[in-house]
Amino acid sequence: MRKQIVAGNWKMNNDYVDSELLISKLLEHHHHSTTDVIVAPPFTNILAVTNSLKGSSIAVAAQNMHYAESGAFTGEVSASMLTSVGVHTVILGHSERRAYFNETDALLAKKVDTALAHDMRVIFCFGEELADRKAGNENEVVASQIKNALFHLPASAWSQIVLAYEPVWAIGTGETATPDQAQDMHAFIRKTLADQYSSALADEVSILYGGSVKSANAKEIFSKPDVDGGLIGGAALDAEHFSAIVNSF
Ligand code: 13P
Repeated sequence: MRKQIVAGNWKMNNDYVDSELLISKLLEHHHHSTTDVIVAPPFTNILAVTNSLKGSSIAVAAQNMHYAESGAFTGEVSASMLTSVGVHTVILGHSERRAYFNETDALLAKKVDTALAHDMRVIFCFGEELADRKAGNENEVVASQIKNALFHLPASAWSQIVLAYEPVWAIGTGETATPDQAQDMHAFIRKTLADQYSSALADEVSILYGGSVKSANAKEIFSKPDVDGGLIGGAALDAEHFSAIVNSF
């Protein structure tokens, strides 16, 4: 059975004090559930958040990492730095990394390999831009992003991969894919995996939806059969909203 997952991507929000406050509120609202809950704070707060969440079932993810093991890469963070502070999940390929930091599928393939070599779970993000959808090319774009960054992996690696479909036009815009648009794309993604690997493998991979998920629309989006949870941006900065989203399954 694939897992239901709700992950909060804090992006470049919350200083140390804000982040401790948010975590303490989240812990007040958090009740044991079958849904995996993940938060992804900025690097400066990642150790403090990991310590504050010790003993809880909420996991911590990094928002990015470098592919190299170590070395002269000013400003970057490696996989072993993350695992050394108890962080075993990393978000890779977010559209903001692709757009503002020129991350390509080829670079992401290297990052994925490094994360897996360190036994980390990868939340791999991808999604089409508005122009692609308007031109009817969304399936083609999404298939090529997945293929270029992930299809070199052996089937055994996929137990560590979570996919996050985030249509760029729905991120931070208040514009959400309709539940049917999300379902159609998630079914397409699962078929793409089934064609390349097997339907047994495709059935086991969690596919999250991201893009303006709020407590008001989460239930309907999560009710779709191929939507296994969400990657939440803005609404993850508010404990009540985020917890309501977690409880939307
Ligand atoms: P919003 O929920 O703010 O649209 O952001 C989605 C996202 O980018 C999560 O990674």
